[in-house]
Amino acid sequence: MDKKTKERANGIDVKDVEVRFANGYFGLKKTSLVIEPGSFCTLLGPSGSGKTTLLRTIAGLLTPSSGSIAIGAKDVTRLPVQARNIGFVFQNYALFPHMSVAQNIEYPLKLHKWPQADRQRRVKEILDLIELPHAADRAVGELSGGQQQRVAIGRALVYRPGLLLLDEPMGALDRRLRQQLGADLREIQQRTGITTVYVTHDQEEAFILSDKVAIMDGGEILQYDTPAELYFRPNSRFAARFLGEANLIDVLSLERGADGRTLVRTSLGSVSLSLPRSILKQDSSLSIVLRPEDMILLGSNTVDEAHAPPIRVHIEKELFLGSRCIVTVSEQSGATFLVECSQSQIPPSGVEVWLTWKVASTVLVDH
Ligand SMILES: Nc1ncnc2c1ncn2[C@@H]1O[C@H](COP(=O)(O)OP(=O)(O)OP(=O)(O)O)[C@@H](O)[C@H]1O
Ligand SMILES: [Mg+2]
Repeated sequence: MDKKTKERANGIDVKDVEVRFANGYFGLKKTSLVIEPGSFCTLLGPSGSGKTTLLRTIAGLLTPSSGSIAIGAKDVTRLPVQARNIGFVFQNYALFPHMSVAQNIEYPLKLHKWPQADRQRRVKEILDLIELPHAADRAVGELSGGQQQRVAIGRALVYRPGLLLLDEPMGALDRRLRQQLGADLREIQQRTGITTVYVTHDQEEAFILSDKVAIMDGGEILQYDTPAELYFRPNSRFAARFLGEANLIDVLSLERGADGRTLVRTSLGSVSLSLPRSILKQDSSLSIVLRPEDMILLGSNTVDEAHAPPIRVHIEKELFLGSRCIVTVSEQSGATFLVECSQSQIPPSGVEVWLTWKVASTVLVDH
């Protein structure tokens, strides 16, 4: 356990930060983000959504046009990149190919003029941390992509930075290596306790690695939450769709009942939900979001109150994936839905098929 780093773990407080480029384009619209000390935060979004812009602004490589950034208790908005004590890892490893693994890791310590004995001790600690102690004297050019990226992570950590920032560090690796390196990175992060900000456009990676994920689109953070909250409680259609399969049903109207519940009318029937008052004001375009695993197929239309009124559907397609099936069903108007279930839950051919869902899993989103 790297106690010194753990004690020094800093949080990050991005407050109302805007980044406007020379051509007038806002790479980042007014953005706020609080990252807990010692946590692993991922910026997730499609290409051009502003992930790198936000990361580079935290690093001090870009200057915000307005707003402030604090690392720990210190306002760093005007501090240059060298004064922020940050370790970086980028997509292209940026290692020195002619140097050995140990020399690459030692390099930042030489720059900071550490005495040789201290350098050697620290390099050995890092080699153990990245699990490459036997590769110390090998040229980095001889290592696999995943190993090279571990060296890059080790080099970023050697000077005991307060933060670790990584911009798509696994972009150049194949799927298997990505999974391996992802697991290694999370392990390293947890052992050192270093606050980490990670950029990716891979949802699965973001979910596996992160304590919290910021979903970005169009230079904005749309939602910032734990992976489970994002998946089960997306706050927008974009977030719902970006984080896996989602069935969307348009809401036609909302009607507050005397019991405090709200009758949500959709093109496919009505459900009674307990909703916060705030959502009632958002008249315009609400949708219900349901994950395929929230949908239930029935052989008859009888359900209890915990389930939405069943809709008559036809099975269009069954995809058998072993432990589960993905069934595509369509209803009268032609709208299709995805249902995830086990094969035994699919009604046998010849019987009527009805679709319902647990009312408790209904989520409403706007915009
Ligand atoms: N120096 C610049 N001048 C003008 N526009 C820029 C500049 N740098 C980035 N942009 C624009 O800002 C937006 C956000 O860019 P950014 O690099 O942050 O996206 P990203 O989410 O990291 O995308 P990717 O996944 O492709 O790396 C893009 O539309 C990009 O074209
Ligand atoms: Mg980028």
